[in-house]
Amino acid sequence: MSLARASIARIAGYVPGEQPRDRSYIKLNTNENPYPPSPRVAAALHAFDPARLRLYSEPLSLELRQTATAPFGLTADWAICGNGSDDLLTIAVRTFVDQGGKLAYPEPSYSLYPVLADLQGAGRVPVDLDADFELPDDAACRAGDATLLILCRPNAPTGNAFRLETMHRVCREFRGVVWIDEAYVDFADDHCVDFVRQYPNVVVSRTVSKSYSLAGLRLGVAFAQPHLIAEMMKAKDSYNVDLLTQVLGKAALEDRDYMLGNVRRLRATRDRLCAELRGLGFEIPPSQTNFVLAKPPVPADGLFRELRQRGFLVRYFDLDRVRDYIRITIGTDADMAAFLRTVADILREPGR
Ligand SMILES: Cc1ncc(COP(=O)(O)O)c(C=O)c1O
Repeated sequence: MSLARASIARIAGYVPGEQPRDRSYIKLNTNENPYPPSPRVAAALHAFDPARLRLYSEPLSLELRQTATAPFGLTADWAICGNGSDDLLTIAVRTFVDQGGKLAYPEPSYSLYPVLADLQGAGRVPVDLDADFELPDDAACRAGDATLLILCRPNAPTGNAFRLETMHRVCREFRGVVWIDEAYVDFADDHCVDFVRQYPNVVVSRTVSKSYSLAGLRLGVAFAQPHLIAEMMKAKDSYNVDLLTQVLGKAALEDRDYMLGNVRRLRATRDRLCAELRGLGFEIPPSQTNFVLAKPPVPADGLFRELRQRGFLVRYFDLDRVRDYIRITIGTDADMAAFLRTVADILREPGR
């Protein structure tokens, strides 16, 4: 018998993508960036005096919040920082969803959202995406009496960005908080940060894990009107962003141009990869992210296993609507050329 709360004991918990150590893989499974972070991060790390670690980090991450909000013309009281954007999502659920309350999210989407509902002892309200993985116009209505609706835009694992008109409509109509998870937005054509000025019930979160090449650092930022930020500040751990992350994260955020250079390269690689895969018979919804969801002309789970054996890790989700697809993170041009050669070899083998 478990000693844990019933809502914990009965769930499996979130399962992140593999970080295997058994051999070296070309890792295309967790949407990390193949390029290193800005050289300014390396310089800040070199200059960092470890003696500073005697003291706790600044609990409000004030300098980081100033740096993160400046490009959008906002001030620090419009932002909160977290230990990755996953931490911010946990803070969101603690702040806006009661135990016994309800959390809404699209399906398919980031598989952490339903787990957060379970952890809180709240009900799950999945809102089905349409056949093209678009958000339905009446999503606010379908989210019913949930108090938090999390919309991932661009969406994971499908890669598409929901229509802006639909996003506006949902933010207007939904009575609770709409959380827009923009983990992949730097790879997209547009974004929703401006929504936070317009709507008092909207939060937009971002991360340095993908576009800024800093998944190992753990830093996320969420933007919202100060009244929402003030409530979330009460629900965070006191020192939820460590001192080293505050220093290195600031150095990275100050070098937006370097990040945008890597984004341009990855978008070009993505577009070439899509064209090549389509030529091999794959179906791919349009991607606005650093990954593509691709439906192979052979069973996806078999291809996933075959690729793994040959040293390529991609992601396979045994979940409704996406079990016929593999999700491929965009790597370097060399990674993708090797990947394409291997896929072509596998597809040419007799019996496929
Ligand atoms: C949609 C989405 N949101 C949030 C995250 C978490 O990012 P972070 O590394 O900032 O916790 C991920 C990570 O894969 C993600 O796919």
